[in-house]
Amino acid sequence: MPIETGESGRFWLLSGARSSYAIGLTPDDGLLNLHWGPRISLADAAALADEPVPAPHAFEGATDGYEEYPAEGGLRFARPALSVRGRTGDTVVRGTEWKFVGQGETAGADELHLRFVDSLLSLEVTLHYRVRAKFDLIERWVTVACQETAAAPVELLRADAATWTLPLRDEWRLSELHGRFVGESQLERGTLMHGEHVYGSRHGHTSHNHLPWFALDDSSATEEQGQVWTGALAWSGNWRFAVQLLPMGRVQVTGGAGGDESGLIELAPGASYESPVFAALYSEGGFGGASRAWHAYQLAHVVPKAEQLRPVLYNSWEATHFDVSEASQRKLADRAADLGVELFVVDDGWFGSRRDDRSGLGDWTASVELFPDGLRPLAEYVHGLGMQFGIWVEPEMVNPDSDLYRAHPEWAQHYPGRRRSEWRNQLVLNLGLPEVREYLFGQLDTLLSSAPIDYVKWDFNRSFSEPGWPGEPYPERLGLEHVYGFYGLLDRLRAAHPEVAFESCSAGGGRIDLGVLARTDLVWVSDNTDPLDRLRIQHGLSQLHPARVASAWVTDSPNVITGRVTPLKFRFVSAMAGLLGLGGNLVEWSDVELDEARDWVAAYKKLRHVVQQGELYRLRPPGSGLTAVQFVRGDETVVLAWLAAQEFASAPGPLPLAALDPEARYRDLESGAEYSGALLRHRGLVTGLSGDYAAGVFHLKRVAG
Ligand code: GLA
Repeated sequence: MPIETGESGRFWLLSGARSSYAIGLTPDDGLLNLHWGPRISLADAAALADEPVPAPHAFEGATDGYEEYPAEGGLRFARPALSVRGRTGDTVVRGTEWKFVGQGETAGADELHLRFVDSLLSLEVTLHYRVRAKFDLIERWVTVACQETAAAPVELLRADAATWTLPLRDEWRLSELHGRFVGESQLERGTLMHGEHVYGSRHGHTSHNHLPWFALDDSSATEEQGQVWTGALAWSGNWRFAVQLLPMGRVQVTGGAGGDESGLIELAPGASYESPVFAALYSEGGFGGASRAWHAYQLAHVVPKAEQLRPVLYNSWEATHFDVSEASQRKLADRAADLGVELFVVDDGWFGSRRDDRSGLGDWTASVELFPDGLRPLAEYVHGLGMQFGIWVEPEMVNPDSDLYRAHPEWAQHYPGRRRSEWRNQLVLNLGLPEVREYLFGQLDTLLSSAPIDYVKWDFNRSFSEPGWPGEPYPERLGLEHVYGFYGLLDRLRAAHPEVAFESCSAGGGRIDLGVLARTDLVWVSDNTDPLDRLRIQHGLSQLHPARVASAWVTDSPNVITGRVTPLKFRFVSAMAGLLGLGGNLVEWSDVELDEARDWVAAYKKLRHVVQQGELYRLRPPGSGLTAVQFVRGDETVVLAWLAAQEFASAPGPLPLAALDPEARYRDLESGAEYSGALLRHRGLVTGLSGDYAAGVFHLKRVAG
């Protein structure tokens, strides 16, 4: 039973396989977090619920740091999750004073909905919980409704999805993933100091700057041991986390949609706001255990069709850039098919007047000059080669030099009278406008019906700068409405074209989160395809997201972003730790390179089920010396190892593996060599890697009997 209600009807225990979460009401209907951590019983939760409300300390709020969803107002000084502005008559009213009205209807035994009402503003706040017991994970979200009977609208300045409360410890350490364009998902870990550590996005999209994720531990967790509390927000617009170490030593993380308090939405009587989901889990398996729980949760409950293996992809961007022609694409497709590629994607430059980044965005029909008969002939040619066919789009954008903008300049986000700041010569469309959404659906639906298209790479190449909405009484809501519009478009297109797969891209990894992953099959991790930089980016991304969604291409050397020269093998093994793709100019590759590439593609196909669906163990993080990851699925294990630079005179020693049965024997499926599980775990696998930019792949299988 994942959810139990205490006898008093005023406290609740939510249980995962190895964890518990308890909350309880105070006599005056405050809701306190009682426990989040290892399993406790309902009797334990009752004892916690019976404890007196913490005594106030001079100048501090008595329940600051304990409250499950701190609303603004009263003797509270911690950062509120809920901040509203309403009216009684002509008077502005701030703050929330709620009464508990009961448990709402539950959709199943794994959901809990607690309803509170602020009668002065006729505001109803419902805290929602869904327990994913197997993963020790709780999905939390909130709905705030302005009741029909309300005398006036209520403005939500802030309505976080959840506030997470940590137990008292002497010290806390925060892990986060920060980044920038071509340098996404960098893991950073440091002691949490008093005050508020605030991060998020004011870019209008998830942004390259941070993944909406946190992990907290008491500074003693390691990769495979120790307690870790970790959360992630399912939202692709502006967002904010505030990680607080409060004066009395309590730690809370509050987070949700919206980059600041400048206003989220105004609710007219009868209207409501539903926040995105803020999921969090507790693990006793260290950072690795926490990541494996995140991965398994996403494969089970978030990513569409996660049980299907992803095909090996070719993308033409780095090969042809904007210089797209049917002939050049056919040539690349020939080469790609010969290497064993299964999905061929034409990137930017195939539509409208798009010959460079100065024009064409908004006009989603094939260029008459380049594709006089549309995309069908090329798509059929690619199918004829035995590959699926994919196409790049960037629907939320418009170049001022486009037919769309000439017809509808008012569809671009802007503030009247202010400059429209262009970035990459483009503006962002206002997806809050129903006519924009209809136009985009029409264009994309027609495109997907015009040719046998199996795959769409959906890009987003600039941030918001003037998110205005002329004529709209509450333009602040554009931040939410854009994301709803984007999600709605994807959902509608998926329903109309259920066989088409979608990739989320935003100039690399500018839109990676659990919200977009609920409606896209994979993500483009970074425009940086340098195989060494990618190891760090993949290491960061893997804290939260599984290899099954992380697209990685083998591109040319020197790398177009970093100029680094690396051997083909190193590039392949780096990309094989995710969804292998190719993105180099194959027309320029030598026969020797093509032969090697063909072998690697074949090798990946033999082990991809382990990488894409297995459990990840990060054996050695990127840094000096050996870097290695291990994937385990059933009887099979795959180890990928890299040595960027040999240091001093000796090659690295054996690499101890994880999660193998010490009693069993394992065969290397390539060499046929057999090893004892005990020795692989304790002494390690001899990788034989030496020198610079060395890499190895080991596919081991438990020997039967
Ligand atoms: C973005 C993407 C690239 C490529 C270009 C095309 O930068 O991240 O992969 O698609 O746009 O303009």
